[in-house]
Formats: sequence, structure tokens, C-alpha cells
Amino acid sequence: MTVKQPIVLNDLPPDLDSTCLPQHIAVIMDGNGRWAKRRGRPRIMGHQRGVDTLKDLLRCCRDWGIPALTAYAFSTENWGRPLEEVEFLMTLFERVLRRELEEMMAENVRIRFVGNLAALPSSLQAEIDRSMKDTENNTGIQFSVATNYGGRQEIVQSCRAIADQVKQGLINLDDIDEALFEKYLYTTGIPHPDLLIRTSGEMRLSNFLLWQLAYAEIYVTQTLWPDFNREELHQALLDYQQRERRFGKV
Ligand code: IPE
Ligand code: IPE
Ligand code: MG
Repeated sequence: MTVKQPIVLNDLPPDLDSTCLPQHIAVIMDGNGRWAKRRGRPRIMGHQRGVDTLKDLLRCCRDWGIPALTAYAFSTENWGRPLEEVEFLMTLFERVLRRELEEMMAENVRIRFVGNLAALPSSLQAEIDRSMKDTENNTGIQFSVATNYGGRQEIVQSCRAIADQVKQGLINLDDIDEALFEKYLYTTGIPHPDLLIRTSGEMRLSNFLLWQLAYAEIYVTQTLWPDFNREELHQALLDYQQRERRFGKV
């Protein structure tokens, strides 16, 4: 009897063009709750499984030569969920970060958390600070995690910071342009995503990277986040490579 070997996509699949890969992928990891519900399990089971999906996606991006990945882990609106779920997620983030830091160092990952971090539990903030400091000189994939992130909140906090600089006479009104504005965003220094992937079929941005996604190609799959895998990424990239990016031109 022959045993069917699973296809392991360690290298860039040959039908993808390595010269036109997105340089930054953003992902809205949605559908954890539904994944768990379909199995008659509590929602938190879906979140737990979702961590494994994210780990493999990060590795896959590295393996296939995609230099930046940003994942939406918790939105400013997600505080409106039941307290047990919010608490579970905060604890999960902290636990995963503590557990994975060593491996991320070994794999040369540079991690950045983007969002209003000051409102997170202090023990989580401590892990976040540590992970960002420890990995800041790493030169591998740029991995950003949007936590307590809201696109509107980010834009408003940038405006405040700029207004404060103007008030102090440090910058002039005429100095404010898109390039200056960028410097006040959480994502400053990281090129904008050129591909946004959202799982579980929802066709919306849910307040994710409103400024940065202005010209991103959008790919939505029905697959729920815990089931997203390398083959799914492969499909998203094939689709991306069919797109004609016009940027307003003809
Ligand atoms: C995404 O999955 C994870 C977070 C928002 C933290 P959901 O929890 O939104 O799952 P669904 O959309 O309810 O299935
Ligand atoms: C977006 O998913 C936020 C994250 C994935 C962290 P949601 O499940 O919160 O979005 P909505 O509520 O469907 O818009
Ligand atoms: Mg959801």
C-alpha cells in the first residue's frame, strides 16, 4: 500500500513569480469563533488554534521571501466582547509571546506591536516591550502585530502629536504633508502592505490600517482563520499576481 505524502510547501511554489511577490502582507485573522462553534467548542479554542496558523504563516512568508507581515490580533472594538473572551485573549498573547520569543530570536524575526499599547494589561506590556527590544536589531522578516489597534485611533493620535509639535513651534503648518504624517503612525518605517488577506468571507476592513491599505490589493477567502494554511497563501499569491496594479493611472 502506498502512503500518500502530504504536499509540503517549503519552497516558493514554481507557479509563482518570485520577482512580483508582495513585499508586505497584512492579514485580518477572522473566523476563530465560527471555527470553534462548528466543532461545538468554546470560541477560545478557535483563538488557540489561530496562533498555530499565524506561526506557520510567518514561517511561510520567510520561506517564500516575503519581507513583512502584519497581523490583526485585537481591534479597539474587540473590547466590546464578553469579558472572559477579552481576558483569555490578553493572557494568550502574553503566554505566546513569552513562549515564542526565543524561537523568534533564533529565526531572526523583528517584531513590532502596533496600536494603543498603553491600554493593555501591564504584564502584557512588559512582554511586548521585551520582545521589541530583544528583536530590534534582527534583520529577518518584519513581523507586526496589531493589538488594541484601530485605524481611526491611529490617525487621531497622529494628528494630536503633530498638533502638539505645531503648538510648541517645532514644526510649521506648511511642513505637514503625507511624508510627515507617516512618521507619526505606529507603522512608521515599514512599507505599506501591498496585499491584504481576510479570512472567513467578510468583505470589510474593520478599522484595520486605514491609511496604509489605501492601495492594497484585497483577497478574501471563505476559509476560517484556524484552517488557513500554505496552500491558501499560495492561492492568494496566485490571485495577487494576476492583478493589474494601476495606482490611478491607465
Ligand atoms: C478573529 O476571530 C479573532 C479576533 C478578533 C481576536 P473572531 O473571534 O472574530 O471569530 P468570528 O468572526 O467570531 O468567527
Ligand atoms: C477584526 O475581526 C479584528 C481582528 C481580526 C482582530 P472582527 O471579527 O472583530 O471584525 P468584525 O466585528 O467582523 O467587523
Ligand atoms: Mg470575527
